[in-house]
Amino acid sequence: MNRLTEPMVLDAAGAALPHESAALHVSGEAIYTDDIPESRGTLHAALGLSRHAHARIVSLDLDAVRAAPGVVAVLTAADIPGENNCGPVLHDDPILATDEVQYLGQPVFAVIAESHDLARRAAALAKSEDVVRYEPLEAVLTPREAKARNQFVLPPLHLRRGDPDGRIAAAKHRLAGEFEVGGQEQFYLEGQVAYALPKEQDGMLVHSSTQHPSEMQQVVAHMLGWPTHAVLCECRRMGGGFGGKESQSALFACVASLAAHLLKRPVKLRADRDDDFMITGKRHDAVYEYECGFDDDGRIAGARVEIALRAGYSADLSGAVATRAVCHFDNAYYLSDVDIRALCCKTNTQSNTAFRGFGGPQGALVMEVMLDEIAHRLKRDPLDVRRANYYGIGDRDVTPYGQPVEDNVIAALTDELVASSEYQTRRADIAAFNAKGGVLRRGIAFTPVKFGISFNVPFLNQAGALVHVYKDGSVLVNHGGTEMGQGLNTKVAQVVASVLGIGLQRVRVTATDTSKVANTSATAASTGSDLNGKAAEAAALTIRARLAELVVKQLGGNAADVRFHGGVVDVNGGQMPFDQLVAAAYLARVQLWSDGFYSTPKVHWDAKTLQGHPFYYFAYGAAVSEVVVDTLTGEWKLLRADLLHDAGRSINPAIDIGQVEGGYIQGMGWLTTEELWWNRDGRLMTHAPSTYKIPAVSDAPAIFNVALFRDAGNDNAEPTVFRSKAVGEPPLLLAFSVLLAIRAAIASVAPDSTDAPKLRAPATPEAILDALTVGAEEAAPVN
Ligand code: MTE
Ligand code: MOS
Repeated sequence: MNRLTEPMVLDAAGAALPHESAALHVSGEAIYTDDIPESRGTLHAALGLSRHAHARIVSLDLDAVRAAPGVVAVLTAADIPGENNCGPVLHDDPILATDEVQYLGQPVFAVIAESHDLARRAAALAKSEDVVRYEPLEAVLTPREAKARNQFVLPPLHLRRGDPDGRIAAAKHRLAGEFEVGGQEQFYLEGQVAYALPKEQDGMLVHSSTQHPSEMQQVVAHMLGWPTHAVLCECRRMGGGFGGKESQSALFACVASLAAHLLKRPVKLRADRDDDFMITGKRHDAVYEYECGFDDDGRIAGARVEIALRAGYSADLSGAVATRAVCHFDNAYYLSDVDIRALCCKTNTQSNTAFRGFGGPQGALVMEVMLDEIAHRLKRDPLDVRRANYYGIGDRDVTPYGQPVEDNVIAALTDELVASSEYQTRRADIAAFNAKGGVLRRGIAFTPVKFGISFNVPFLNQAGALVHVYKDGSVLVNHGGTEMGQGLNTKVAQVVASVLGIGLQRVRVTATDTSKVANTSATAASTGSDLNGKAAEAAALTIRARLAELVVKQLGGNAADVRFHGGVVDVNGGQMPFDQLVAAAYLARVQLWSDGFYSTPKVHWDAKTLQGHPFYYFAYGAAVSEVVVDTLTGEWKLLRADLLHDAGRSINPAIDIGQVEGGYIQGMGWLTTEELWWNRDGRLMTHAPSTYKIPAVSDAPAIFNVALFRDAGNDNAEPTVFRSKAVGEPPLLLAFSVLLAIRAAIASVAPDSTDAPKLRAPATPEAILDALTVGAEEAAPVN
C-alpha cells in the first residue's frame, strides 16, 4: 500500500501523537551511531587515561602499546596537525594532554586497533608506570578548597540590586546557612561515540552522537587545520544527551577524525561506560552560603547568596552555567534587595558541563531550601511563605537582572495544583500520622518553578530549516536541531504538516546534517522546538504561499482565502487535493522547496552588568510530592506526585507530558540517589551503574498525576511556534519537592525545633541518617 494514501492524521499540531521513532525505539530498529554499518577497513579507537589528578608528564614510552595485539597506531598530541583544543568557549581543553594532566581520567594518548576490544586492551597499558611516567603535582579537588585558594576558571559573577545588607540587618527575622548539592552524571543510555570516514580531497564525514553538529564540524576542522566546509557532521539521533553531548562530544569526534585522517581509514571511537564517566564532565555540584532577612509572613526583605560551583579543570560551558544559576536564584519570587555571587571553582576533576537545566536548578534550589527554613522558623505552612513571595503581587515583577516578568501564571497554577492534589487535607493527615510517633514518617512538599527560555547568550537564538516538497506530495524536512529522544523531530513534523494541511505520514524528518543547514546552535536550553519549529514553519509558509498563488490561478479567488487542511486545498468554492496541486506546481515550474530562518526577538544581555532581557519568556510549573521515610535505615519511598506544568499551547501533549515526567524523575535522581564520589587521589569511584544509582522504573510513584496547565498560551506579541512553550528542562526543577518532602518527614521527629533539618543533597540514606541523628554542624560533608 502506498503510505501516502493511508488515512490522514488531521490537525497535526496539538495532537498527542507518538514519537516519530517510537516503534523503532521499542523494536530495537532505531539506528544510533554505533549501529551504522561499518565501512570496509574500519578501525577502532580507545583512549589511554591519566592516572593522576594533577601531574607533569615526565616521559611517554608508547612502544609497548604499539606492540600490543591488533594495534595499528598510537597517537599523541604531537600528531595533531591543527589546534589541540576542543573547548567550546575558551581554548583550554586539550584533545590529548601535552606536558601536564589536569584530572584523573584525562586522555593522554589514543590507540587505534583492529577491534574495539583490542584497542581497549592496549589503551589500558596507560596504567603502567613504564608507559607514562608522571611527577605528581598538588591537586585541588573540591570547590571549597578551590575557593579558599581563589582558584577559578573564570572571574566570579556578581549581581546586586538595592541594599541587601541594610535590609537584612533591619529585618525582624534573619537566618543564615550553608547548603550543598552534588553533581550528576548525564547517564545518556547511548554513550559518547563518533565514527569518522575520510573523504576525497581532504574531506571528513563525522557521524557523531552530539547535540551540536556545527560545533563538532568546527572543532574537527580546527584540529585538522582545515576550512569548515571540508568537514560534514551528521547525527540522526542520540540515545539521550541531557547536556552531556553539547560540548563534550567534541573530544570523541576529534580523536576519531584525527585517526581517520592520518590512517586514511574509517575510525570509530565509542567510549565504554566507565571511560565515559572518567573522561566527561557532569552537572556542577555546588556549595552555598546564604543569608536573608524576612518579616512575620516570611516575606523576604533582603537576601544574599554565594554559589560555589565545581567547574573542573577547564572553563567548558561553566560561564553560561553560572550565569543561568545567577538568573534562577529568584525562581518564582520577587527579591527587591539581593546580592548573588557565583564562583566557577577550578578543580582537578572532569570539566563540568551542561546538564538539563544548565545551572538553573543549582540557582533555584538554594532559594527553595531557604524558604523552607523561613517557614520552619515561623512555624508556618511553607506553601504560604512561598505564595507571599511570588512575583506579581503589586508592582513586584522585575527580576534582579532587570527583566520584567510579564507572563506570570504561577499564582493560578499554584491554586489549581493545590486543589487537585488536595495538598491541605493531605498535609493535615500526614501531620496526624506523624504525631503518632513511630519509625515511619511521612512528608509532603510543594515547590514551584519559573524557568527562563532562550540561550542567555543572545546570538545563539537563531535556527534554520530546509523543507522539500517532492512531486508526489511527500515532504522532507531538515532543520538544525538534533533528536535526543525529546521528540523534537515529531514536533517539527507536526508543525510542517499543520502549515501544509496534510497528514503527518506525508512528512519525514531527516538526520541533522551540517551540509543542509549551516552555523546552527546546539540543541539546548530547551529551545529546540521553539527555534527549529519556527524556522521550519517559515519554510513551509513560503512554499504554501507559492502553492496558494498557483491554486488561485486555477480555481479563482484570493490567495489570502486559500485553506490548506485535511490533505486538500480550498478556495473560491473549489477544491484540489494537495498532491495534485503539488504535481501541477512542478509542471508550472514553481519552486517546491524552501529554506526558513528564525531569530528570537526581544532578547539582549549585558554580560558585564548581568542586566538585560535574556529570556524571551518564562515557563512555569509546580509539584506536590509525598514521601515516607524509614527513620531507622534512612530508606524512603516516593508515594505520590502531582505535577502541573505550563507548556503553553502544547504541540504534542503526549510528548510534553513525557518530558515533564522524565525531567521530574531525573531531578529526583540528582537530589536523592545519584552520588558522585571521588577518593583522596581524585579518582571518581562511582563510575558505573553498580555504584552510581539512577532512578529505575520501580522508583516512580504509585500515584503519578501529571497534567499540562490549560490556561496558558504564549502571548508574546510575536508568538512562539503555535504559541507553545519549551518544556525540555524546566520540569527537572519540580523534583525540589521530593527533597523538601524528605526534609519535612525528618522534621517531624523534632516537631518543636525552629531549625529545619540539615539535609544535604543527594539525600541518600546516609545523608538522611546524618540529618536525623547527627544534627546540623557535625553532619560530615560528602567531599
Ligand atoms: N529528553 C530526552 N528524552 N533525552 C534528552 O537527552 N535532553 C534534555 C531535554 N529533554 C533530553 C530530553 C535537555 S538537557 C534539553 S536542553 C532539551 O531536552 C533539548 O531539547 P529541546 O530543546 O528540543 O526541548
Ligand atoms: Mo540542555 S542542558 O541545555 O542540553
